[in-house]
Amino acid sequence: MGEVLLLVGLQWGDEGKGKIIDALAERFEVVVRFQGGANAGHSVQIGDDKFVLHLVPTGILHPDALCIIGNGVVVDPGALIEEIRELQKRGVKVGENLVLSDRAHVVLPHHKLLDRLREESRGKDMLGTTGRGIGPCYADKASRCGIRFAELMDKDLFRERLEAVLATYNPILREVYGAESLNCDAVYEEYRKYAGDLEPYVKDTVPIVHKALEDGKNILLEGAQGSLLDLDFGTYPYVTSSDVIGGATAGTGIPPTRIDRVMGLAKAYCTRVGAGPFPTEQNNEVGETIRQTIAEHGGREYGATTGRPRRCGWLDGVALRYTARLSGVETFAVSVLDVLSAFETIKVCTAYKADGQVLRTFPAGAGTLTKAEPVYEEFEGWRCDISGATAWGDLPGQARSYLRFMEKLASARVQFVSVGPERTQVIERRPDE
Ligand code: IMP
Repeated sequence: MGEVLLLVGLQWGDEGKGKIIDALAERFEVVVRFQGGANAGHSVQIGDDKFVLHLVPTGILHPDALCIIGNGVVVDPGALIEEIRELQKRGVKVGENLVLSDRAHVVLPHHKLLDRLREESRGKDMLGTTGRGIGPCYADKASRCGIRFAELMDKDLFRERLEAVLATYNPILREVYGAESLNCDAVYEEYRKYAGDLEPYVKDTVPIVHKALEDGKNILLEGAQGSLLDLDFGTYPYVTSSDVIGGATAGTGIPPTRIDRVMGLAKAYCTRVGAGPFPTEQNNEVGETIRQTIAEHGGREYGATTGRPRRCGWLDGVALRYTARLSGVETFAVSVLDVLSAFETIKVCTAYKADGQVLRTFPAGAGTLTKAEPVYEEFEGWRCDISGATAWGDLPGQARSYLRFMEKLASARVQFVSVGPERTQVIERRPDE
């Protein structure tokens, strides 16, 4: 029997999923993306080559893996074609090893336009979305006026659906936002061209996934974003529009009973791009040291999709406890531990103080979180370069104590530790360590 492993980010995204998926991918014959869209940016550094995957599953860098873009993903066809071409140009095999679900929803021009216009109209209350049309596309899906690849591939049906959807949105664009209407003929022509380019990849992925399960293949479910951006459990409304945790079954057709294991991913500290509460944020020299240290170590705390600077802060243990339990992780990977080498003392938030109360659980209200004052525990730093560590035993005692504390918070075992941006700078801890 093969294994189905679900990989979930435990913070606000950017936990270094690309690198861990890349490390795991050679053990998996099938890699499936199940939610999100081109808002994701999964990075893998191979020598001097850096790959950032947005829609194509990270498994594509392993030519024997079958990569599936599942039905739960919202796909901008133009962005996908560009990504495929760029990968091919750089010598990566993209052909029969990539499949796109015909049930996946198509990101259309009005989605991207509305994403931007709604953000502008929110003024200082903007969410800080990636502007990739993600929210409006999922909204159309839920409103049952979205267009899937199955419809895009059928020229008459596509025309009919596109006319209907633009008849709804063009007056909104004009009258609510003072923008120009979208020309149905122009959008139709552009997207029919995309349909032609993507035709070889578009398939019914449900039987493909079920056959892989029957054949006992190892399947990796590649989560995007992070649990604190989950539409239901994240810091609403400062979240993305998909189910980061629960989307693994709805977005693939894999029954919940067939997921064998969940692995989490967390940074050794916290970052967030976009607006929203971030109780442990260090808008001071600590945050600056994190940003500077990662730059010295060859990484960047800038969004892989938008290039925006990430907000940086100490590890939020209340949030980690919450997200690790929500996703049921048994093991997790910790990334960028090397960055904490810069600190004499490292802090971890273990509770919040708000409205005269001490909170140990993660509250629903953005208001409570915004005024939450972190209660910190302090840890002695290791103050030495750990970027060359290749085994658990190479890590200084203080670093291992810190990781053990993260394990206590997550009630899960640390299986991987990443100590630098290179593909090779990942320690896999042995079961007896
Ligand atoms: P959207 O997903 O573009 O609608 O953006 C909603 C929020 O999620 C914003 O705060 C984004 O910065 C954040 N976000 C979306 N995708 C990612 C990601 O892959 N990494 C980190 N943050 C993300």
